[in-house]
Amino acid sequence: MKSLFKIAGVTLMSLLAVSCFNEKDRNYQYFPNMYKSVGYETYGEYEVFEGSQEAKLPVEGTIPRGWMPYEYDNSTEGYDLAKAELKNPLPYTEDNVNEGKALYTIYCAICHGDKGDGKGTLAQREKILGIPAYDDAGRAITEGSVYQVMYYGINTMGSYAAQTNEKERWQIDHYVMDLKAQLEGKPKREPLTEDEAKQFDSSSENQMAIADEEMTNDAASSHENANTEESSSLNEE
Ligand code: HEC
Repeated sequence: MKSLFKIAGVTLMSLLAVSCFNEKDRNYQYFPNMYKSVGYETYGEYEVFEGSQEAKLPVEGTIPRGWMPYEYDNSTEGYDLAKAELKNPLPYTEDNVNEGKALYTIYCAICHGDKGDGKGTLAQREKILGIPAYDDAGRAITEGSVYQVMYYGINTMGSYAAQTNEKERWQIDHYVMDLKAQLEGKPKREPLTEDEAKQFDSSSENQMAIADEEMTNDAASSHENANTEESSSLNEE
């Protein structure tokens, strides 16, 4: 008889506990901080973190996606080395050189002139002095030296590493070498056909360096905002 009361009591208690349960309502959580993490701001300062900084610095030697380190120093030795051995990893195709020409017109022609003779608008107005022609024999520019100069700048000429990505610089480079040949009265190079370009790609040592150029096109080139039409044609391929 006594246990019957007990059983009835327990049943009653459990009914009581369950009766208010409503599937549609939020239920109680025990220790909610075990379910929900603290919402730290990405760049917030909190003492719990090392250096009070939520966002961690990347590990030393980290390389951003779509970016390849450039191995030539910003020094005379680096310049000489690039001039002697650095070669354009992009095939010389009509597309590449046309895009190079468009970019050259945006970034370089204002000083160097449409023909590369050093007589751009800023030279004519004497805003910038000492702009050389690309066929300047004393300078004897090469693919490698042109790239080095775009990357780091040289004296009064600034760096174009922030405005252009790697592929774009090499496209400009093709066009600059064309201008140089033109100024020297040499014949224009024959552009590679698509098949030849593919072969060039698979034989080029440097192909890895430009494999990710689509990503940098999105991330790194600031001229995209200014010139959407231009850049969308750059992104097409
Ligand atoms: C603001 C004007 C200006 C612009 C824009 C400019 N340059 Fe120059 N560039 C110069 C001047 C000035 C020099 C000579 C620097 C020196 O050696 O004193 C020079 C030198 C050069 C040289 C020869 C460097 C050498 O090896 O001696 C090359 C190649 C070159 N520029 C390419 C470019 C390319 C490609 C662009 C566009 C991406 C460009 N420049 C944009 C002013 C400019």
